[in-house]
Amino acid sequence: MVRDPERKKVLRQCAFNQPKVEEASTVLIMIADPGGVEENLERVLDSWQKLGYIKSDIRKTYTEMAKNLYESEDSLKRKIFAVKNTALFAMNLMIAAKGLGLETHPMDGFDEECIKKEFHIPDDKIIPMLVAVGYLRSGITLLPRAFRRELSEFVRFEKF
Ligand SMILES: Cc1cc2nc3c(=O)[nH]c(=O)nc-3n(C[C@H](O)[C@H](O)[C@H](O)COP(=O)(O)O)c2cc1C
Repeated sequence: MVRDPERKKVLRQCAFNQPKVEEASTVLIMIADPGGVEENLERVLDSWQKLGYIKSDIRKTYTEMAKNLYESEDSLKRKIFAVKNTALFAMNLMIAAKGLGLETHPMDGFDEECIKKEFHIPDDKIIPMLVAVGYLRSGITLLPRAFRRELSEFVRFEKF
């Protein structure tokens, strides 16, 4: 979460000098962690066991299943899984922010290596997007909503 004006200046430079990075109250750097599977597995299984979802004898099977499903430490599958989770989190955060009267703006226009270097983010992490968050400045009227495809253009029934 980047709030400090000086740090926002640095982030702006990593985001192709986009003014909104400095203008927004806060810019969130969304970070996906491909190592999250192992990091949290034991804690999740502890909670499942405590709450009675599973018995202790099945823990080993679940651990092996997770390892097989997400493959090696730097597998593409694991990276995609981390990005899926982070994108879901980002969208939920944007909806919640709107509910609290804030505006948000997802951003893909940035140099990932620059952000990692400037903000000391370990190299194995992935930055799927930035999200600028703030209140709409008073006296500003937003332009009308831009083009949206009709549902029928992209919803398929039963097969692609
Ligand atoms: C994943 C994603 C990344 C985006 N990256 C940028 C960006 O770096 N800079 C920008 O000005 N707009 C970016 N946009 C577009 C805006 O966030 C926003 O969608 C756009 O201003 C239009 O608003 P609307 O989607 O409500 O029509 C991005 C949108 C998405 C979905």
